[in-house]
Amino acid sequence: MLKLAVLVSGGGTNLQAIMDAIEDGTITDTEISVVISNNPNAYALERARKNGIDGICISPKAYETREQFNEALLAGIQSYQPDLVVLAGCLVVIPKIMVDAYPNRILNIHPALIPAFCGTGYYGLKVHEAVLARGAKITGATVHFVDDGTDTGPIILQKAVEVHQDDTPEVLQQRVMQEAEWVILPKAIDLIAKGKVQVEGGLVRIQE
Ligand code: GAR
Repeated sequence: MLKLAVLVSGGGTNLQAIMDAIEDGTITDTEISVVISNNPNAYALERARKNGIDGICISPKAYETREQFNEALLAGIQSYQPDLVVLAGCLVVIPKIMVDAYPNRILNIHPALIPAFCGTGYYGLKVHEAVLARGAKITGATVHFVDDGTDTGPIILQKAVEVHQDDTPEVLQQRVMQEAEWVILPKAIDLIAKGKVQVEGGLVRIQE
């Protein structure tokens, strides 16, 4: 059984996609041990509790320094002994102590086709605003392992999505979530649960 700690910051539609996929058998042999939010008002916490999953808040505002918050976040995760940490719309910059504690065991969903529209400053709606400002005709989403950089870790799955001429950032965000994020995040978790994902030389190999 693959045990997940899911980190969130907002609405939690990716968390919902994971919970639905566990429920309908798209993700096998996996359970969510805890959902952790940096934001006490995240609707994602509500979604977790509705599903009988522990939903806890670890806020940077409760700590004097960033280091103390980072340590508390790591301790909070470790207390649930997860096999995999999933960043599902988590807007906290993941500290090095966490990457070192979970090498190639932290998964992130990014709402663009890495290496386009990623890195510092590219999160949430800002990503879709940048795609539209550049006039890109294709965008998408990427699931990758987290390393010390921002959106630089080994890529597991990607899915392309068309940009439409009259898209607003909100409309594009919704299409990217529906057509890509909610599909490839559960799929990547299932592949990991089945032991089919290996990292070799910084690149992911998926067993057929
Ligand atoms: C998602 O679009 C996710 O890809 C993005 O935030 C949104 C969260 O939505 N994450 C990032 O931008 C991380 N760099 P959700 O809370 O409804 O899952």
